[in-house]
Amino acid sequence: MGVTTVTDVQTGRPDEGVVAAGVLARLFRSEQGGHEQVVLCQDRASGLKAVIAVHSTALGPALGGTRFHAYASDEEAVADALNLSRGMSYKNALAGLDHGGGKAVIIGDPDTLKSEELLLAYGRFVASLGGRYVTACDVGTYVADMDVVARENRWTTGRSVEQGGAGDSSVLTAFGVFQGMRAAAGSQWGVPTLRGRRVGVAGVGKVGHHLVEHLLDDGAEVVITDVRGEAVDTVLARHPRVTAVRDNEALVRAPLDVYAPCALGGALDDATAAVLTATVVCGAANNQLAHPGVEKDLADRGILYAPDYVVNAGGVIQVADELHGFDFDRAKAKATKIYDTTAAIFERARADGVPPAVAADRLAEQRIADRTAAAHWLRPAAS
Ligand SMILES: NC(=O)c1ccc[n+]([C@@H]2O[C@H](COP(=O)([O-])OP(=O)(O)OC[C@H]3O[C@@H](n4cnc5c(N)ncnc54)[C@H](O)[C@@H]3O)[C@@H](O)[C@H]2O)c1
Repeated sequence: MGVTTVTDVQTGRPDEGVVAAGVLARLFRSEQGGHEQVVLCQDRASGLKAVIAVHSTALGPALGGTRFHAYASDEEAVADALNLSRGMSYKNALAGLDHGGGKAVIIGDPDTLKSEELLLAYGRFVASLGGRYVTACDVGTYVADMDVVARENRWTTGRSVEQGGAGDSSVLTAFGVFQGMRAAAGSQWGVPTLRGRRVGVAGVGKVGHHLVEHLLDDGAEVVITDVRGEAVDTVLARHPRVTAVRDNEALVRAPLDVYAPCALGGALDDATAAVLTATVVCGAANNQLAHPGVEKDLADRGILYAPDYVVNAGGVIQVADELHGFDFDRAKAKATKIYDTTAAIFERARADGVPPAVAADRLAEQRIADRTAAAHWLRPAAS
């Protein structure tokens, strides 16, 4: 979601009043908005400037990570928090979690601004929401940071194992993506296995390299690519049956049954949708669709797209479990259900005649609306 920029004729810089008005319009009036609460936080002593956006608590306390990023403007940071928190409502709803959607952003370059003092100040703002918002790691924040934030409140997940947390979430993220891929195989080829299929994994970092292992165990042929040579070498050394190609462009043009984007967002653009040989797309990366409409182009070419936020929910399932005293087996059992949810989305897409990305949004909205209606029903009638 971009911020509307209007230039001030006198200074030549973006007119902040107009930009801020655009953000407020999005918050209160836009169909993309509907947020319950947005908190602007400042601690001058540590340099903290943060935005905590609570999109919805219809299903329970809002859950979503803290992004630490040097935004081009404060307004862009607010817009990002609004957008990301809304996405978390949908993700948490379809992950079967009793959590609404929330997200926080800390404004600034984490390499220069991050300090213990700043993280503690941020932790006090999370505490001030009294549990309406539960935080976790995101881009620019790590397990060690969450251990610091947690010193100020009870609503911080993504902590280290030593501090009672779940540690690295990529294990269950990869497991969940694999479950989603099995469901896609079942829908496309009638059997929920990748045995004998050729799967291309773009990005073999934390999630991608675990996914490769699930695929090999299931009997798939795996082709990988990564911009980091050492990431490729590590996988090839451990798994001699895996092959590598030069780059992502070579991967999408190679003969594949499944394409698994596990690097950055925007992997599915017009050019990729036009040349992709795979007939299933299922990977861990967030925001894979470069723009609205790509999901329809994929469907028109007979390519089954497993919505990213559905299949990569293993990580949020893992951190949500921390609130109950982390139990890996319990979290894994919940992540296994990503198979059923993905299969249900494909069924709904077929029934409604829409791409799976649209069907996923409809199912998420239905779960949120059902719970909201139930909550109203429980309240005493107005006299
Ligand atoms: N880690 C999690 O639990 C989790 C949960 C949900 C979603 N995700 C998403 O999954 C994706 C991967 O996450 P991760 O934790 O494995 O990150 P990571 O940084 O460990 O791995 C990403 C890998 O992609 C590679 N890469 C970057 N650009 C590339 C390109 N153009 N072509 C090929 N390779 C490229 C990087 O070199 C790196 O090895 C991200 O989009 C992330 O937001 C991760």
